[in-house]
Amino acid sequence: MSTAANDYLHTTVLLHEAVDALVTDPDGTYVDGTYGRGGHSRLILERLSDKGRLLAIDRDPQAIAAATTGATRVTDPRFSIHHTSFGQIVPTLAALGVSKVDGLLLDLGVSSPQIDDPERGFSFRFDGPLDMRMDTTRGESAAEFLARADERHIAEVIRDYGEERFAIQVAKALVARREGGNPVRTTRELSDVVARAVKTREPGQDPATRTFQALRIFVNAELEELEQGLKSALDLLDVGGRLVVISFHSLEDRIVKTFIARESKSEVDRRAPFAEPKPMRLVSLGRVKPGETEVRANPRSRSAVMRVAERTEAAA
Ligand SMILES: C[S@@+](CC[C@H](N)C(=O)[O-])C[C@H]1O[C@@H](n2cnc3c(N)ncnc32)[C@H](O)[C@@H]1O
Repeated sequence: MSTAANDYLHTTVLLHEAVDALVTDPDGTYVDGTYGRGGHSRLILERLSDKGRLLAIDRDPQAIAAATTGATRVTDPRFSIHHTSFGQIVPTLAALGVSKVDGLLLDLGVSSPQIDDPERGFSFRFDGPLDMRMDTTRGESAAEFLARADERHIAEVIRDYGEERFAIQVAKALVARREGGNPVRTTRELSDVVARAVKTREPGQDPATRTFQALRIFVNAELEELEQGLKSALDLLDVGGRLVVISFHSLEDRIVKTFIARESKSEVDRRAPFAEPKPMRLVSLGRVKPGETEVRANPRSRSAVMRVAERTEAAA
């Protein structure tokens, strides 16, 4: 096993709140779409009877290694883990003969083991190769993207996914450096370029924060994955099944909030105003944020927002 799989720990955010909201039937089948280091999964298993089942997913091979090898291996016969992305949840479960589940949990973003391992290239706090892929077996790294994309595309990514006011300046500086024969290859090189291009500092925030967030979201197609995962929940959840999503920044939370709001409304089709309105497929059960004690113990939980919805009997 790769040593990194067990070397770094993850403190689970909203552990009890999420599992309380998710598990309504101890005999049910549940999906943890973001296994990480299994904090939520372990508590879900504690809540299930012998008949219950937990299917876990993660796109990071190291998360899979942590669940299947060494001291952190999960040997519970009710549990299985699958290396895929939650955007692919419907075909993944179909291949396992599962078409309906009682709950789907998505604890979005990256885990501490990913951020804290310099080799993964997620953090401007350490120097390492500028990779940022959660699934290191496929796709393009952040460095590869910055080596080939044009200035406009780089600026759009940094503006749209990082909400960075100086996106154009950062993109120009990156392209100028590349054209000078010295493309950025490491996290330190990227944060140095950004620090020079970003003119106003936000209090308590590293100038590279927004650019790193943007590239991570882009490289991992995080928002598209989220849209797809939410849509899949409508097909997969049985009546009364729960959707629980924990997000860590406003771009994610906006997507979750809008999706639940749209699916919790019975809408009249404007083109056919006398037809039956589109039935509500979800009922929103609200929003929860970590309490003061959790934020003090785990500052990373500060920005977390959990939203919960329940599937109605309306057809998908
Ligand atoms: C915040 S961590 C989850 C932590 C976990 N709940 C725990 O308590 O240990 C997010 C995990 O989800 C995975 N992930 C993020 N997006 C994913 C996606 N689209 N498909 C599958 N896994 C994803 C990441 O690789 C990471 O391991």
